[in-house]
Amino acid sequence: MTSTTKVPFLDLVTPHQELKAELLQVVEKALGNAGFIGGPMVEDFERDFAKFCDTKYCVGVNSGTDALRFAFMAAGVNPGEIIVTVPHTFIATTEAISQVGAHIAFVDINEQTYTLDPVKLRDYLENRCAFDKSLGKLVEESSKRVVSAIVPVHLYGQTADMDPILELAAKYNLVVIEDACQAHGAEYFSRKDGVWKKAGTMGLAAAFSFYPGKNLGACGEAGATCTNDEAMAKRMKMIRDHGQAKKYYHDIEGYNGRLDSIQAGWLSVKLRHLANWNESRRNLAHRYHQLFAEAKDAITIPQEAEWTKGVYHLYVVRVQDREALQAALSEAGIGTGIHYPIPLHLQKAYQHLGYKQGDFPVTEQVASQILSLPMFPQLRPEQQTEVANKVKEFAAAKVGVSR
Ligand SMILES: Cc1ncc(COP(=O)(O)O)c(C=O)c1O
Repeated sequence: MTSTTKVPFLDLVTPHQELKAELLQVVEKALGNAGFIGGPMVEDFERDFAKFCDTKYCVGVNSGTDALRFAFMAAGVNPGEIIVTVPHTFIATTEAISQVGAHIAFVDINEQTYTLDPVKLRDYLENRCAFDKSLGKLVEESSKRVVSAIVPVHLYGQTADMDPILELAAKYNLVVIEDACQAHGAEYFSRKDGVWKKAGTMGLAAAFSFYPGKNLGACGEAGATCTNDEAMAKRMKMIRDHGQAKKYYHDIEGYNGRLDSIQAGWLSVKLRHLANWNESRRNLAHRYHQLFAEAKDAITIPQEAEWTKGVYHLYVVRVQDREALQAALSEAGIGTGIHYPIPLHLQKAYQHLGYKQGDFPVTEQVASQILSLPMFPQLRPEQQTEVANKVKEFAAAKVGVSR
């Protein structure tokens, strides 16, 4: 391991240094009026982020995990019911499912998009579940549990193929909550409606994370749910605030899950740059694509389906000998990550679900080969070239060995 990092996996210092004066003004403002909880800074951010996402409402909360959990609760998912999602995601997606007392059912991903495969979703809903006429609901045959929701995850900043997912959800009366925690500003072309739609506008609601490393990151923990449904927004607001719509009048038990005012103020400063930062990420991704063109036999680059405009939260390649490539890059002072090395169905935390190796072959293969390369808006061309050269050098040596 080298001690000097030439190309970090992520640079969170530079953007904060560039925006330091404006970020400090937010703190000054909050200290000046002790506006730490709620108030105009939260409301302004919610209005502006809803506008950015093309949704009517945005409800700021304290993390992406809570954004998902509160959305499930507000959507009326009952304990014991099944929420369907993918095993190739960050565990927060499934933690939120368990935290509302629901049951996780996994469906494999598509090998090109790394997102929920609509064909496999259909197979699960139609061959492993049956419509119970007396309940008016879809029921999983083996467990007899009601299936109530689907969570497509727009992983790495690319949307899932929403048209067929929404069609299945409508057919079987299932709620769709988008996990857009990695996809602020990503777009999806609906072939059905003939229009581009923003991530977060297609389900009943969508969760966003503002964890610092996200495309829009807070300077701490934060998240939001966006929705076009007024009743959902109202319920989410109550759930995040101890179940009260009016101070000390608690209609339900809720949580302490509000978005801090200072975080909201900081997010508003950064939101003004989000479109440009996303554009930089797209340009960098296309440059990586070009740099890797000659090594396409050894490196699988991200594939952007014609129906998505990704925002490249991560630039994830696939190679045969991932650990060796990661070590070689580390040796050269280049930071990388693996998102995510162990599929959720094989995690210790989910042993009780009874899944086994081989249940989700695409996820399992992808998880063993993926490597996330440096990707952040301030990544310089010479740094990017250095990354690409090292990866290609590794690939060439591998090809040479196997000949
Ligand atoms: C796909 C996905 N879902 C959910 C979350 C949870 O967000 P948070 O870390 O803000 O709770 C994350 C963030 O790491 C994520 O990447």
